[in-house]
Amino acid sequence: MITVRGIAKHFGGLTVLRDVNFSVAAGEIVGLIGPNGAGKSTLFNILCGIIRANSGEITFEGRRIEHLQPHRICESGLTKTSQIVRVFAGMSVVENALVGALLHARSVAQARAEGLAALKRVGLSGSEERQASDLALVDRMRLELARALCTRPRLLLVDELMAGLNAAEVSAMLELLQSLRDEGITLIVIEHNMAALMRLCDRVLALDTGSIIAQGTPEGVSRDPRVIESYLGEKFARALNS
Ligand SMILES: Nc1ncnc2c1ncn2[C@@H]1O[C@H](COP(=O)(O)OP(=O)(O)OP(=O)(O)O)[C@@H](O)[C@H]1O
Ligand SMILES: [Mg+2]
Repeated sequence: MITVRGIAKHFGGLTVLRDVNFSVAAGEIVGLIGPNGAGKSTLFNILCGIIRANSGEITFEGRRIEHLQPHRICESGLTKTSQIVRVFAGMSVVENALVGALLHARSVAQARAEGLAALKRVGLSGSEERQASDLALVDRMRLELARALCTRPRLLLVDELMAGLNAAEVSAMLELLQSLRDEGITLIVIEHNMAALMRLCDRVLALDTGSIIAQGTPEGVSRDPRVIESYLGEKFARALNS
């Protein structure tokens, strides 16, 4: 579905990604893990065309996309949710969701119908006419997902949608993401909640200081010495000290 070759990104003198290579097949749920600052969100921004890589190729469904504008990439069926969730203030919840559907809908009425369906999907029925800026963080995250779904993605990149959720909310989000896959949406998921990720993903990629240091099954990657040293060890150490 997507193949990434030789992606590199520098911000001034800071190298954030170096020679990143991977592929994701249609129907997979792939986790992307790594310590803070590893370059995960930057990689998502590059895949969506929001920022340009300094080098490398991205092939999505057989077509090169690294030169395309973000709205063209989104139209082609690739979109993401943002780690920093923002809503359009002064607009209702359904208006915030239907913005995604305006990309392809023939009318605002059709976009609104898709917005309402997406809100139902993510568990926001009943909040449609509230001001989006009044929503709690958890619901803003759901809204972020609804807006992304309204663009009708075939590949959806999910950037930390479970941060701050309680155990029941995490389970509900896992079920929702699995149901999206069952409907034919391929997913790449950035997540620091390793237990959730192990339940969700077919495969995991581990990024550290801009390079993929391990990939494979969730169990295999979580036992990889480099991953334990660079990421999991740090997390366990933090857990022990807290
Ligand atoms: N626009 C930018 N200009 C300069 N540096 C940036 C920019 N965006 C990101 N960086 C830097 O690139 C590095 C990677 O950031 P990125 O947000 O991709 O990390 P991440 O893996 O998503 O981390 P986290 O788990 O904390 O979300 C960090 O050192 C960050 O400070
Ligand atoms: Mg990030």
